[in-house]
Amino acid sequence: MREFLIKLADRIFLPRWMVFFADMLVVSFVFMFTYLLRYNLQADAVDLSEMLLQLALILPFFMIAAYIVKPYQGILRHSSLLDALAVIKMVLIGTLAMVVVTLIARRWEPFLVIPWSVIISQFFIGISLLIGFRFLIAIVYQRLIKSRDGGVSLMIYGAGDMGIMTKGVLERDAALRYNLAGFIDDDPRLVHKKVEGLMVFPPEMAFEKIIPEKKVSEIVICIPPGKITKERKSMFVDWCIERNIRVKEVPGVNEWLNGRFFASQIHDVRIEDLLGRDPIVMDDQQVAREIYGKKIMVTGAAGSIGSEISRQLSGFCPESLTLVDQSESSLFELSHEISALKKELPVRIVVADVTDPHAMRQLFVSSVPDIIYHASAYKHVPLMEAQPYEALRTNVGGTKIVADLAVEFGTGKFVMISTDKAVNPTNVMGASKRICELYVNALSQNTGGSTQFIITRFGNVLGSSGSVIPIFRKQIAAGGPVTVTHREVIRYFMTIPEACRLVLEAGFMGRGGEIYLFDMGDPVKIYDLAEKMISLSGFVPHRDVKIIETGLRPGEKLYEELLTRAEETIATHHEKILIAKTNPYDPILILAKIDELVRRIPLESEDALVARMKDIVPEFKSRNSGFESLDTPTADPAGSTS
Ligand SMILES: NC(=O)c1ccc[n+]([C@@H]2O[C@H](COP(=O)([O-])OP(=O)(O)OC[C@H]3O[C@@H](n4cnc5c(N)ncnc54)[C@H](O)[C@@H]3O)[C@@H](O)[C@H]2O)c1
Repeated sequence: MREFLIKLADRIFLPRWMVFFADMLVVSFVFMFTYLLRYNLQADAVDLSEMLLQLALILPFFMIAAYIVKPYQGILRHSSLLDALAVIKMVLIGTLAMVVVTLIARRWEPFLVIPWSVIISQFFIGISLLIGFRFLIAIVYQRLIKSRDGGVSLMIYGAGDMGIMTKGVLERDAALRYNLAGFIDDDPRLVHKKVEGLMVFPPEMAFEKIIPEKKVSEIVICIPPGKITKERKSMFVDWCIERNIRVKEVPGVNEWLNGRFFASQIHDVRIEDLLGRDPIVMDDQQVAREIYGKKIMVTGAAGSIGSEISRQLSGFCPESLTLVDQSESSLFELSHEISALKKELPVRIVVADVTDPHAMRQLFVSSVPDIIYHASAYKHVPLMEAQPYEALRTNVGGTKIVADLAVEFGTGKFVMISTDKAVNPTNVMGASKRICELYVNALSQNTGGSTQFIITRFGNVLGSSGSVIPIFRKQIAAGGPVTVTHREVIRYFMTIPEACRLVLEAGFMGRGGEIYLFDMGDPVKIYDLAEKMISLSGFVPHRDVKIIETGLRPGEKLYEELLTRAEETIATHHEKILIAKTNPYDPILILAKIDELVRRIPLESEDALVARMKDIVPEFKSRNSGFESLDTPTADPAGSTS
């Protein structure tokens, strides 16, 4: 019966004209009733024709008022304070009209004078009945919903505006079958009080008492990003995961439609939001001064790092932005996005291969960049281990071509994006990036600083193309298994925007020859990450979704080097940016060796090329790789960095 009534209520949407008609009926009824009241409920005493004439005169004013403020627009079973406000406005306008009619009639037509007691009673009783009628329907409907059997017991974390809005959204959607067990909030001013009829509990009490008692199986986080720290949110999510409670959150405000969101938009907490740290406070002014009015070129602009650097640069009003990449479609999409962001910014989109010396020269002739951010590279360790030729051609060859042209064309700054895998490399990819670092560093020393070469080194960024998080997400969506290479593998993570902000900041700080390292925060165990992502998706790790170990891949390390060990770094004015201490080496010798390596790329076997890499980077020791056999003790022609 209850279900039938709810279904019936959900199906019935009274047409607006019917609500309008009902409101006018209530107004008329109240008018007549207040007349009766005035005469102590003695119907004989009331002059019926006088009363009906007055009603006929004032009713159109109420109709006009209703037409203006539209109290009939709300859905009755979801009546809110806003609907009540509309009713008050309508009755107020109608009552004022009654006052005006009475004041005018006093002079001309006493028959139309409405008694003051009727006017005052009409105002108060009218408002009470019209609002009461709406809230009665809403309360009966809510009671029906709450009394249903089954359904998910749910709590809302955050009793602020967003939490209240979420409560409304969940209650409005009868199909969801949620039973709201209360709010959870950290604010001592709110706890142990009621908000919108629901009790607010402090987290400790909620987890110890309310959640087990009311068998809560879901919690929705409804706190805007600026009002909760990443640490707090992460801790809260961990508490939920430990107790097998599914934790979700409301969509970001940018995903709302006309200031509202729908229940279907409430989603699982994204692991990126937990791993990323709170935004770093940066001095935008200094970076803005550096970029303003300059001609900027970004290579690898369509990639994860290059595209975010381009986005951020577009906000600093450069004179022009030249975006270079060989990936046509991704570049096309980026150009649309940046043009939409900054319509007035001259953006030049260039589909080109950085290893093509002719194309690059043409590009420098036509754009003469003041600053270059070099982010084009091949980055996947196992792929590059299988194709050292490509790693060398693109990473080393491409960097050499662009860096040489930067010197030739008098580019002021060249900011190279490197990686933590370049530190004591165990694979071809990391070693190729180390050679790029050595090359631009040696150029910096050899060219007398006409072009300032700056290197930025950092660890994994969250959610970049081909990184572990999107891969796990797909595996979980497919029901598993989730594959990790080794139970003990740990990695450092940073968000893409954070890493790119630091790149811009380091680019501003650099005077040439420095290797900047970014503080990546605490390391994350990839196995734990997989378990957490499974839990966040509402599954139980190992039971619903299996995790399997596949063994370390060629060249893969268990632990990436910690970049920022105090004894091997120099602090800068920015707490998250450090400079690597490097051992001295002969730049002429290094430039000659890398020149030779690049010339030999198309001529020599993979083994011979990798042996050359090991000669240039003596600390390069292959791991889980066919190139391990090449590791014999060698001299240290290049020296090494930390
Ligand atoms: N993604 C990370 O987690 C991360 C972390 C630290 C450092 N890095 C470094 O940042 C750099 C960029 O990484 P990403 O994640 O943006 O990679 P990505 O694959 O998303 O982007 C690289 C871009 O370079 C382009 N490119 C490759 N070869 C090119 C060529 N010959 N000519 C023109 N364009 C070419 C590709 O088309 C791609 O758009 C790499 O050197 C990587 O090692 C990445």
